[in-house]
Amino acid sequence: MSDVLVFRGVRAIDPASALDAEVDVVVERGRILRIGPGVGGDAAASERARVVQRPGAWLLPGLVDLHAHLREPGAEGKEDIASGLRAAAAGGFVDVCAMPNTRPVNDSRVVTETLVAKARDLATVRLHPIGAITMGQRGEQLTEMADMRAAGAVAVSDDGRCVTNSQVMRRALEYAATFDLPVIQHAEDHALTEGAQMHEGAISTKLGLRGWPRIAEDIIVARDVLLAEYVGARYHVAHVSTEGAVRILREAKARGIAVTAEVTPHHLLLTHESLLGYDTACKVNPPLREARDVETLRRALADGTIDCVATDHAPHGVLDKNVELAEAAPGMIGLELCLPLLLGLVREGSLPLSRLIDALTAAPARIVGLEPPRLREGASADLILVDPTLSWTIDPTRLRTKSRNTPFAGRTVQGRVAMTVCGGRIVHEEGIEDLHHAPRSAHRTL
Ligand code: DOR
Repeated sequence: MSDVLVFRGVRAIDPASALDAEVDVVVERGRILRIGPGVGGDAAASERARVVQRPGAWLLPGLVDLHAHLREPGAEGKEDIASGLRAAAAGGFVDVCAMPNTRPVNDSRVVTETLVAKARDLATVRLHPIGAITMGQRGEQLTEMADMRAAGAVAVSDDGRCVTNSQVMRRALEYAATFDLPVIQHAEDHALTEGAQMHEGAISTKLGLRGWPRIAEDIIVARDVLLAEYVGARYHVAHVSTEGAVRILREAKARGIAVTAEVTPHHLLLTHESLLGYDTACKVNPPLREARDVETLRRALADGTIDCVATDHAPHGVLDKNVELAEAAPGMIGLELCLPLLLGLVREGSLPLSRLIDALTAAPARIVGLEPPRLREGASADLILVDPTLSWTIDPTRLRTKSRNTPFAGRTVQGRVAMTVCGGRIVHEEGIEDLHHAPRSAHRTL
């Protein structure tokens, strides 16, 4: 690998650095050495330099995902740390937070340590474990959060399950607050969602399927906001899906309560109508909602009420999805599709590009206390090269994740991550990957 990496004539965009300009960017020894018009000329002449020139390309800070399911330990057939981080790199993510609903659950120092060590050995993008809030995610006994934090956990969550017991949630917030660890809630009052297959509304009635009412999310978010205010803790809502939850968050923020929230690409793009054909790829938890929720979520992301985008990358195998809806596991893959799908919202005018970049870089990094990837001289070289005009058709068999469960298969998107650089190292590059995976990529539709 070259010691020096020179991007020539790229559009470098980083809202956190108030940067949007056509410049050269020089990377040396893991850091961004120079940014400016023409500054790459000398470095490019050096024999040690690798020069990247791609007309019209953008250079952005590396992306940060607060919410991915990498399935290791326990379900490595669906995904493992190596394949998950490869998919993350291909999607432009340099920091990936891994949810603890594995088998065994990550509710201890030893599991957290194992994940950190495995990811370190892979020397690709960075993995940040999220520890469970309660032992076995059973909602009863708190985990040793201090131990997990010392081993590298950046937050706690029982994602996939909600902490419904108010006393347990209060104690979790109090304990986590002693070391400023955010508590991430999967907001679902399980008593209201038992047996639910999809959003409760006209379509669930038509299909005769048990519905998951919005109120099951809203009740938990409202209660937790009150608890977070009372305790003075940092509270983050995972995959917000309802207009009611957005209203509660907006009011809470206006009152200065330390709440943050994320939204997934699928909740910004799809509605419950996608379930009309009983497509199990569209079964997710929380479920796809109605057009008015989607509208509210988009506006809330645009105005910052929802702080960030998170993928909720949830790989599942054929045996989990090629079954009837009631039996199907909830979730869809997301790491490699997130940016291309959401660039569609930018083109449509629903979301400013600078807000999208912030929501995928600085905003999520801040929530879990990571150093935000930045395009700034002296910063660690965590950046991505994006071809914003390249159109390609999503074919799940050609993605790096081990799983194929996405309802976006066959959709043509515009915009593709051409290169991902993490700590100065190229961890993903379209062309190189193509050579290594010749049989699969020979038919790549670009
Ligand atoms: O759709 C989902 N899938 N939502 C969750 O909360 C869990 C996730 C999974 O682990 O598959």
